Amino acid sequence: MSTTDSPADAQDARPYTPAKAAPVRRVTAGAIKRRKGKMLFPVVTAYDAPFAEFAERAGIDVILVGDSVGNNVLGYDETTPVTIEDMIHHAQAVTRGTSRAHVMVDMPFGSYQISDEDAVRNAIRLVKEGGASSVKMEGGTLVSQRIRAIYGAGIPVVGHIGVMPQTASLGPGYKVRTNRARLLDDARAVEAAGAYAVVLEVIDADVARELTQVLSIPTIGIGAGPHCDAQVLVLHDVLGMHPTAPSFAKRYTDVGSAATAALRGFADDVREKRFP
Ligand code: KIV
Repeated sequence: MSTTDSPADAQDARPYTPAKAAPVRRVTAGAIKRRKGKMLFPVVTAYDAPFAEFAERAGIDVILVGDSVGNNVLGYDETTPVTIEDMIHHAQAVTRGTSRAHVMVDMPFGSYQISDEDAVRNAIRLVKEGGASSVKMEGGTLVSQRIRAIYGAGIPVVGHIGVMPQTASLGPGYKVRTNRARLLDDARAVEAAGAYAVVLEVIDADVARELTQVLSIPTIGIGAGPHCDAQVLVLHDVLGMHPTAPSFAKRYTDVGSAATAALRGFADDVREKRFP
């Protein structure tokens, strides 16, 4: 500082730094885990920016980019063809459409079966390229090693037991799972491996209640009765955008019919010269 400079001048000489808005932080896996026993919470799937934004505006702060994107958006009749690139693409859209919600992203079939290394690499892609806040994978005891590896790499993981659509054809398909001992083993293995939550899909309600009681992590039920810590539904089932929905789902509106009626109106207007 020269003899003529005052301390105030020195302060003015500092490089300009623009005022930053406080960063909006997404709900973390830790915050979701701490909801256990304190609050029930809803989870919904989303696959694109506008519907993710609608969900967030509706107060749903945990959004699942499910591999059900295969059935609901991509026109497949199962989830197995969905690729890691598909999941990254849709996860990017959902993260662009939201600012606060936790974005949980499914690991698609083939992205975690080969080795721990491959699974960790794909989970890292979902986080770095897709913007995933956490990843979810199907399987209990059989994937506990993979969960441990991904968790060990610093990525929050959600387990998924009961009906597992990626491998449904290996077992009894989509029938309600009632094998208490096996489900307990699977749930405990997922928890011990480091998962911060577990999806229970189409599990007998009494068994789901017991799992919810014995686990220290939240259970997220779908077709698993009312006793879980959270409930997840597929967006297209909630909004009536898919012609068929499982019996446990609840349709809150009929966007499919509204869309068809609106498009029929447009088509008729063009044919009858009422528009433009
Ligand atoms: O992909 C999906 O939508 C899911 C839910 C059924 C939990 O995994």
